[in-house]
Amino acid sequence: MCGIVAYIGTKPAQPIILEGLKRLEYRGYDSAGIAVLSVPSGSKTGQVKVVKKAGRIANLEAELKNVAPAGLPGTLGMAHTRWATHGGVTDLNAHPHRDDKAGICVIHNGIIENYAALKTYLQEKGHRFISETDTEVLTMLIGELYEGDLEAAVQAALREVTGAYAICVMCENEPDTLVVARKGAPLMVGIGAGEYIVASDASAIIAHTTQAFPLDDYNVVKITRQGFRTSTTSNIAVNPKVMQLELDLEEIELGTYEHFMQKEIFEQPQSLRNTFRGRLQKDDGKVVLGGVSNFAKELVRAKRVILTGQGTALHAAMIGEYMLEDLAKVPAVAEYASEFRYRNPIIEDQTVVVAVSQSGETADTLAALTEAKERGALSLGVVNVVGSSIARETDAGVYLRVGPEIGVASTKAFTGQVAVLAMLTLFMARRRHMSTDACTRLIEDLESIPGKIERILEQDAAIKKVAERYCERENWLFLGRGYNYPTALEGALKLKEISYIHAEGMPAAEMKHGPIALINDGMPAVFIANRGRQYDKVMSNIAEVRARGGHVIAIATEGDKEIKKAAEDVIFIPDIAEQLSPMLTVIPMQLIAYHAAVLRGHDVDKPRNLAKSVTVE
Ligand code: AGP
Ligand code: GLU
Repeated sequence: MCGIVAYIGTKPAQPIILEGLKRLEYRGYDSAGIAVLSVPSGSKTGQVKVVKKAGRIANLEAELKNVAPAGLPGTLGMAHTRWATHGGVTDLNAHPHRDDKAGICVIHNGIIENYAALKTYLQEKGHRFISETDTEVLTMLIGELYEGDLEAAVQAALREVTGAYAICVMCENEPDTLVVARKGAPLMVGIGAGEYIVASDASAIIAHTTQAFPLDDYNVVKITRQGFRTSTTSNIAVNPKVMQLELDLEEIELGTYEHFMQKEIFEQPQSLRNTFRGRLQKDDGKVVLGGVSNFAKELVRAKRVILTGQGTALHAAMIGEYMLEDLAKVPAVAEYASEFRYRNPIIEDQTVVVAVSQSGETADTLAALTEAKERGALSLGVVNVVGSSIARETDAGVYLRVGPEIGVASTKAFTGQVAVLAMLTLFMARRRHMSTDACTRLIEDLESIPGKIERILEQDAAIKKVAERYCERENWLFLGRGYNYPTALEGALKLKEISYIHAEGMPAAEMKHGPIALINDGMPAVFIANRGRQYDKVMSNIAEVRARGGHVIAIATEGDKEIKKAAEDVIFIPDIAEQLSPMLTVIPMQLIAYHAAVLRGHDVDKPRNLAKSVTVE
């Protein structure tokens, strides 16, 4: 959600920060803006030029061509994509914002929760506001507290605010200084040769340097062309941990694909091979997870596991719940993080909380994790982005290793999350009761999954035809049982979030308790009907829908002779252990959603109103 890029160095800032901002487009936004500070010759102070527009970055670029055809002069600049929280999507509310006194300029991701009280205070001090945003209030507050030291003014202002922020601040009186800070929204500093690039995530930094450090909550960094200083909002010096970014550019390039979502769907055989690499010891019937090995004893003795996340991550967590109880025989429950954090949960001794998150920045998941830790739980992260807030907050964890996921609709991260949760389950099961043979069999199944996904992907043209037949229908049902009930939820989420079709997932048995009233002539009902303990029951549910004129699209196991008589459209998947089947049954639904969205002419990678990472509550 929204994005920040800033540059201070010796090169013209505009092209660098605009290129970086485009790499952050996938995060979702509704307006964009840029500010560049230039120093007229002979002057000690600078002049900041701001250009900002509602809409896409292309709108901003068009405006920049009008305003400054040769580009805004200056080697210190910052750029922002906004995802509106306070105030409509207008040019005025877009960032950067300026104060009315001290030449301060700010861009901000997050929410200033006590902005109203601060605004009243500042208005009484005579400040005049021109936007509806909370960010302008923070900008004015920094200006009000500025007494010739930008770092000190930012620290003082941040001590007064409550809420979440990732900010970059410039000041015309200090043309060689950029101050950045963060609490609850991601921000990292890339260290180049005599230059620094600040951004919301590594994808906007990697083209310039591989040395970077993420800010922690309450960190403030003062950056000049000579170096940087990290402190807290109370001005206590901090030593950041500089890390080597392991991201290469082609991972975030589209290559020969139409969309990132398509690329990431087709990457899943390889991304899962990366997830499994070095972690499956088939001959010993063992799973090796270095990130949790120090807590093996606690995991073996765990009395309860609470898995939490939002959206797709929650669906993966729900599958983890089934696996842990079924295979590791440990009580488990999956919960929306946004519910868990507020319902005053009881955390008994020997409880493990697993936060599942692709970005590692989802505000509700981070807050639920913090809540569980404060109540004594051991916290694990199942996260994709290395060094992300959730990864840093947990006691231990397992990275997905699926590579950067750019498409807003999560695909390879979902199969990666399910794969990691399967490995975590086997890691615990083998230390509790599971035999070597039983574990070896499941490991063999896990190892077969990338190849089996490749076989499903070969059916892409046929699956596209299914999407063509029904992409104009405005209401779909997705139904499954057992392990594939959460997968049905995931299939529905994929379709609704990029095609804007109303799609509902539910347990197949639930249909008779109301939703079957929705069935009308030709309404698509996707049934996950792979081989499993509840296959016969699913077949009965299919018959119930057909009897009422519904149109059944079934995902079934290769060799199933019955299903063709029951369903109008059948997509076959290779056979696999039921517990691991979501990593296969989800693939056809990802492709149906993708093709339906393309056929409906939507922006598949940047669906309306959505952000890749929901860093606000
Ligand atoms: C899934 O396609 C959506 N993009 C969304 O539901 C996402 O899964 C959710 O916001 C959680 O994000 P996270 O995995 O980064 O925490
Ligand atoms: N709350 C700020 C606004 O509404 C920033 C939103 C964002 O994170 O982009 O402008």
